[in-house]
Amino acid sequence: MDFASDLEISAVSKYDKIVDDLVATGLSVFDGFVSPLQQLSLSDEAVTMYQRGEFRHARVGRGEHKQLRPDIRNDHIHWLDTSAPTAIQAAYLGELEMLRLTINQRLFLGLFEFEGHYALYPPGSFYGVHYDRFIGAMDRVVTCILYLNQDWQAESGGALKVYAGEDHASAHFPVEILPQSGRLVTFISELFPHEVLPAQRNRLSLTGWFRIRASLN
Ligand code: OGA
Ligand code: MN
Repeated sequence: MDFASDLEISAVSKYDKIVDDLVATGLSVFDGFVSPLQQLSLSDEAVTMYQRGEFRHARVGRGEHKQLRPDIRNDHIHWLDTSAPTAIQAAYLGELEMLRLTINQRLFLGLFEFEGHYALYPPGSFYGVHYDRFIGAMDRVVTCILYLNQDWQAESGGALKVYAGEDHASAHFPVEILPQSGRLVTFISELFPHEVLPAQRNRLSLTGWFRIRASLN
């Protein structure tokens, strides 16, 4: 590889690389999306909030139909207040904003805002097969999951298992993705059923969705 092509490759941003994969397969797995220092700051913040009792049992469904269903999911979550982020959250939200703008420029998805939460899966917990887009709702268009677990080994379980959606029969699926720190998984929410397999150790992530305007529902 000569110097010129090296330069060309490094000129392609990580946001563009993720969008390339979204275009090709609907799913992107990108390692080192944020720096090791940011990964540690986010995981420290989440663990501190968890220890302070600022997480709650995650529910399934939406609006009035939200319910505790530990047979379906039993992680604990803390929703970010994106209107008043902490400094470390603001840095990550800035990265996601670049990704949102890149997706909009290239895919014309009209993504409008981000909503997200920290999620902690204590040992043994899981989230059964589901789609992220609620039935009859149009709002969640792109799922983004940033993992925050140092040195995750396959023996610890806890993989994100993504199945081929109806329109995406392909030899690549199902795929199991380990929740390695700094890894960002991005996918078109309505395309892929997916699940979180039970883990042997605490499994931390910052999971969220780019949404379109609710008025388009
Ligand atoms: C979710 C989800 C996957 C993961 O929160 O909807 O599917 O790997 N999370 O944490
Ligand atoms: Mn999901």
